Amino acid sequence: GTHLYATRANWKMLPVNVIDGNHFMPTHVTYLQYLRERGSEMKEPIRDFHEAHLGNGHTVFEYEAPWGRPQGKPDPAWSDAVNGQILARREELLARLGPELGDRIARRNRNLVIFPNLIINDIMGTTIRVAEPVSVDYMEITAWQFCPADDPPELARVRNEQFLTFLGPGGFATPDDTEGMEASQRGFACYREAPWVNYSKGIAAELAGGYTRPGESDFMMRAFFNAWQEYLGIDRFAEAS
Ligand SMILES: [Fe+2]
Repeated sequence: GTHLYATRANWKMLPVNVIDGNHFMPTHVTYLQYLRERGSEMKEPIRDFHEAHLGNGHTVFEYEAPWGRPQGKPDPAWSDAVNGQILARREELLARLGPELGDRIARRNRNLVIFPNLIINDIMGTTIRVAEPVSVDYMEITAWQFCPADDPPELARVRNEQFLTFLGPGGFATPDDTEGMEASQRGFACYREAPWVNYSKGIAAELAGGYTRPGESDFMMRAFFNAWQEYLGIDRFAEAS
């Protein structure tokens, strides 16, 4: 099936939301509380975080998270039968791709933007989203869940729950992200009085060629907007008149 929903914000807010590593902890605390209550293992929530600009505005970050993954990481909140089916998926990946790559695919999470508006979240579920501009301040989002056709019914149910509880239009995350994007858009309406959006976090380290601490930098948003300006043929240093 397909989800179609709308957000009162410019379409660029969705890819920028997906690659913003700063907002997860403050924005999605409700989801972390839900994980704790259902019995998931709650170590340091987001860790071993790596982000990369792949060129031409394509961006990705990869990290370790507390949630289980039907793609290949069991969770104490799920039944032994479901966790056994997930371990079988994991073994399949390790056998086919080798221990290192197989483990990385099974266990770790990725948020990927294919510039400009195709989004693949390989997180507690795997979803594909497209942000379509309808007007300057309104977008429609189409979302699909990506899953194997041969899931046993119990695993398919867990996979659907994983997708819906975080990324569903009425889940624990999408309404929070929507609120953030719509609030930002209301701020952008004041562009004559406030013509700048500050994406400078971590820029000194980036310009110095040094390491920018993961999740504490706007590096990915800068990569996205620089690519967008290049695409439009605009001088990135021009001031608004
Ligand atoms: Fe979010």
